[in-house]
Amino acid sequence: MADREHFGSNLTVILAMAGSAIGLGNIWRFPYIAGKYGGAAFILVYIAACIFISVPIFIAEATIGRRSHSNCFGAMKKLAPSPRWKWLGILTVITPIVILSYYSVVGGWSVNYFMVSLVSGFSAYGDSSFASFIGSASRPIVFHTIFLGITALIVMKGIKSGIEKFNKVSLPLLFVMMLLIMVYSLMLPGAKEGVKYLLNPDFHSITPSAIAAALGQSFFSLSLGAGTVLTYASYMKKQENILATGVGTAMGDLLFALIAGFAILPAVFSAGISPGEGPGLIFETLPYIFSRMGMEVPFLSRLISIVFFFSIVMAALTSSISQFEVGVSYLVDEKGCSRRQAVYIVFLFAWFLGAICSLSFGTLSEIKLAGRTVFEFCDQLTSNFLMPLGSILLVIFVGWVMKKADVRDEFTGVGTQTLSGRLFGVFYFLMRYLAPIAILVIFITNLVM
Ligand code: PFF
Repeated sequence: MADREHFGSNLTVILAMAGSAIGLGNIWRFPYIAGKYGGAAFILVYIAACIFISVPIFIAEATIGRRSHSNCFGAMKKLAPSPRWKWLGILTVITPIVILSYYSVVGGWSVNYFMVSLVSGFSAYGDSSFASFIGSASRPIVFHTIFLGITALIVMKGIKSGIEKFNKVSLPLLFVMMLLIMVYSLMLPGAKEGVKYLLNPDFHSITPSAIAAALGQSFFSLSLGAGTVLTYASYMKKQENILATGVGTAMGDLLFALIAGFAILPAVFSAGISPGEGPGLIFETLPYIFSRMGMEVPFLSRLISIVFFFSIVMAALTSSISQFEVGVSYLVDEKGCSRRQAVYIVFLFAWFLGAICSLSFGTLSEIKLAGRTVFEFCDQLTSNFLMPLGSILLVIFVGWVMKKADVRDEFTGVGTQTLSGRLFGVFYFLMRYLAPIAILVIFITNLVM
C-alpha cells in the first residue's frame, strides 16, 4: 500500500489522537466522578492509572497500527502468526461502528441544543423539554442524520485534507472556548463550591470502586481498545514518536477534562444544584441554568450557551470522525472500496443502528436487550465489555505475540529516539504484566458490580 496517506507531522498526529480522546466523556463524566470519588485524590489516582496502564495500552495499540501501516483487520493479517487473531481485527472494526451509532445520536442532540441556543435561547425552556425531545420520533433522528452527515463529509475528504485539517482548527478552538466559559463560570457567585467539589482531596474515598472508575474512565476517554488509536497510528510516519504521542494525548485529554470541570461545576453549584453526570448534566441542568441566568444577564448567558453547545458539537465531532475512519480504512484496504463508497457504507450502518438507538427513548422503548433499551445496551456493551476486551487482546498481542525487537523498533522510532530507548524496558514490562492484569480487574469489577 505504497500510496497510504500520512498525517503531516507528529503534532498533527497528537492533535488527531487528542481529538478522538476529547469528547463527551470528558465533559459529562469526568467532572462528576472526580468529585464523587475524592476530588484531587481521585485525580492523582487517575493520573497514575494513565501513566501505568492506559498510556502503555495506547502505545501497544499504536505500535500495531504503525508497524502494519494497515487497518485493524489487515494489521492482524500482516502481523499475527495465527489466523485466530483475525477475530481481534473483526472486534476492533465492529466496536467503533457500534459506538459511532449511539455517539452520533448524542451528537445530534448537541446540534439540536446548539440550534436552540442560537435561534431562541433557553429562556422558555421547561424542565420536561429534554425528555420530550429525545422521546419524540423524528426530530432527534433528523439531528442524528445531520451530525453523522457532517462526520461523513469530513472523513470523505481523507486523512490530510479532512481529518487532520478539521482537528487542527477545531481542537485549539475547543480549548479556547472552554477556557472562556471557565473564566466566566469561576466569576459567578458561589463558584468556590464547585472548585472545592473538584479539588478537595478526600483520600478516604479511594476505594477499589474508585480505582475501577478511574481506570474505566481513562479507557473510554483515551478511546482505548476501539481500533481508533490503531487506525490513526497506521497513518503515522516511521520516525514519529509513539511515546510522545501517547503522553501528549493523555495530557491534553486530562487538561481538557479539568477545564471542562472548572467550566461546568462552578456554574452548577452557583445555581444551588447538586451535580449529576451523563446527558442530564449537559442537556437538562445546564439549559436550566442558562434559562435562569438569562433573566439576569440575557446577552451574556445567551452568548455563553451558544459557545458551550458549539464546543460540545466540536468535541463530539473530533471523536466521531475517529470512530468513522476505522470502518472506512477497513473497507478501503480490505474490500477494495473507494473512500467514497466506504463512507456511504459506514454511514448506512451507523445511521440505521443509531436510528434504533434514538427510537429506544420513545417508540421502541419496550424493546429490551439484557433488560436494557437498545441505546443503553450499545453504550454498556461497548464501554464495559468490548473496549476492555479489545484493549486486553491488543496489549497481550504486543507484549506476548509480537517480537520484542519489532516492538522496540516502533517504540524507539527505529532506534532514533534516545529517551524512548531508555524507557523501553519499563513500558515493555507494563504492557506485558500490569496492563493486562488491570484490565482483568476492571472486567471482574464490572461483572460483580
Ligand atoms: N474518547 C471519547 C470521549 O471521551 O467521549 C469517546 C470515544 C471516542 C470512545 C472514540 C471510543 C472511540 F473509539
